[in-house]
Amino acid sequence: MDTILAIETSCDETAAAVVSHGRRVLSNVVASQVELHREFGGVFPEMASREHVKAISLVLDEAVKPLPNGWDDVQGLAVTHGPGLAGSLLVGVNMAKGLAYGRGLPLLAVNHVLSHIYANWLLPGEPERGEPVEPEPQFPLLVLVVSGGHTSLVVMRSHTEFESVGHTVDDAAGEAFDKVARLLGLPYPGGPEIEKVAAHGLAAAVDMPRMRMRDSYNFSFSGLKTAALRLAESFGGRGDEPNRSRLPVANIAAAFQESVVEALVGKTVEAAEEFEVRQVLLAGGVAANSRLRQVMSQSLKGIPLRYPPKRWCTDNAAMVAAAAYYQQRDVRAGWDLDVYPGLRLPASGESELVSAAS
Ligand code: KG4
Ligand code: ZN
Repeated sequence: MDTILAIETSCDETAAAVVSHGRRVLSNVVASQVELHREFGGVFPEMASREHVKAISLVLDEAVKPLPNGWDDVQGLAVTHGPGLAGSLLVGVNMAKGLAYGRGLPLLAVNHVLSHIYANWLLPGEPERGEPVEPEPQFPLLVLVVSGGHTSLVVMRSHTEFESVGHTVDDAAGEAFDKVARLLGLPYPGGPEIEKVAAHGLAAAVDMPRMRMRDSYNFSFSGLKTAALRLAESFGGRGDEPNRSRLPVANIAAAFQESVVEALVGKTVEAAEEFEVRQVLLAGGVAANSRLRQVMSQSLKGIPLRYPPKRWCTDNAAMVAAAAYYQQRDVRAGWDLDVYPGLRLPASGESELVSAAS
């Protein structure tokens, strides 16, 4: 099974892609709902599911269009079955089931967090134009997965042996970026906005705590969010209130970003040394952050760092197809495949994927 079509609808992007041999992206279509949700300052779950219903057939048509023989070139159907929003996941899973059943194709179920990791396997260039083929990431490796819903440090010894050695105990890093952006009066999604304004700010100009949890590889970001709120209040109000002009938005954004980056980099460097990995990977929406990339590469002291191009850090289906190719090729999902909104990676000591439906 070399050519896999994947569907991703776990949150607010309706995505479909075709990838060959887990690395070569033949098509990658993403219909974003960001503009719709911006009005609400975050994802509105019911609206997200309805938008997936409207967009999915068109997105699939676009994804198949570049294939020389259309659907006949597709050898497997992969789909994200969790974690994510239940109503959104259902749209993708039902479409994938229907297509796989109707076309007699194998159905492959993919964990969304793992799929973010596999964005690192996709080939960004076009080797047929003579560009060198980037080698695959080398095991054992450590991955910092940082997105709007997840923050985990994952040790991977092979495609099938991996464990989460640390995770956030409260907000995900991207969620913290989104919440702080909102209180600074910046639009959703907040990560790219904070990064943009932070470039004009001075982190040292305001007082922001450092969040380092002791004796574990876990993270905590809710304290930073509260600190940013207190800081905003000390300047006379939040960004969405009338007296926002007094708020030093750029300085608060810069200080918050520095603090998040320091926490992420500190734990990643410690874990990379303890687990003696050959490479460190970044994955997930927050991996698009240039400051995180810069500080991480400066701090890893000789351990090579790798991250996907920015367009593949946020949700897409090409990464789902790659994960399916490397992890699920020999596993078939049944026709009773369900969605798992709380699906998570195994933590140290657990051997199976843990599927907590919530
Ligand atoms: O991976 P993703 O598309 O969705 C989830 O699976 O959650 O990640 C979206 C998250 C959002 O919280 C967004 O604010 C954050 O990634 N993000 C960033 C940047 N670009 C996206 N955070 C910091 N800096 C960025 N440049
Ligand atoms: Zn994601």
